[in-house]
Amino acid sequence: MCPPEYFAVDYAINPWMDPSRPTDATAALSQWQELCRVLRALGHVVDLVEPVPGLPDMVFAANAATVVEGRVLVAAFRHRQRAPESAVFQAWFDAVGFDQVRRAARINEGEGDHLLVGDIILAGSGFRTETESQPETADYLRRQVVNLTLIDPRFYHLDTALTVLGPDQVMYYPDAFSPRSRATLEHLFPQALLADEQDAVAFGMNAISDGYHVVLPTAAAGLAVRLKERGYEPVSVNVDELMKAGGGPKCCTLNLRRAAGSKTLNPSGGEPTRPGPDSP
Ligand code: ARG
Repeated sequence: MCPPEYFAVDYAINPWMDPSRPTDATAALSQWQELCRVLRALGHVVDLVEPVPGLPDMVFAANAATVVEGRVLVAAFRHRQRAPESAVFQAWFDAVGFDQVRRAARINEGEGDHLLVGDIILAGSGFRTETESQPETADYLRRQVVNLTLIDPRFYHLDTALTVLGPDQVMYYPDAFSPRSRATLEHLFPQALLADEQDAVAFGMNAISDGYHVVLPTAAAGLAVRLKERGYEPVSVNVDELMKAGGGPKCCTLNLRRAAGSKTLNPSGGEPTRPGPDSP
């Protein structure tokens, strides 16, 4: 995670960002601190990246890279405003001892568009990450990649439209996807929790699940009720200020799936801490 010490909405690269609307950097930082506290209380180990002045979107660390078994595919951003983040995040991975780090050759916005479910990577495209980046992602991260085309500009990264709840379970907002991608999702996850528009505009899909606890925005109250009915434990966090930049809880985090046996193995490791209600 990267603290939003220089939080601002100075440019607009998604429909949520309105530079004429005032932002409150103090509020953004305290909401982020609370999110960080909640994640640590749930047992996650949180490493921090030093923020850089002039790169306000660094708080959305999900976009930094995609990390699978210690292999780091560093993002290549679509917009020039975020392009300098690649070098900063790459330097961080090098400095903390990841030894398999590669910069993506094509536009690829990291875990914002790449969600690992079990053994497959669901890859969002349509707004940010290019489909042409998918062969590299599959090859370097050694996982099958399934393309999902996003069609609603409000849900421009995959993690604003779909949440991985466990190794074989997801929730998603169907209207964010092309008909073909919807069919793919129905085929892969017939039991998925389907979110409605209200859930999605509240950034309910930008949630973090360990297979049992689901950290989601306070604003997604209806979704919290439905998660509870399915046996999950919703944990609400207020991220109103961060949402002005078009982000929620999930995009403030990047899952560091270190290689098994790594010295600094993260105990939360991306896997559920408790068996999920839908696990076999
Ligand atoms: N302002 C950022 C952008 O448009 C927000 C990124 C949110 N990240 C995410 N993974 N959904 O790039």
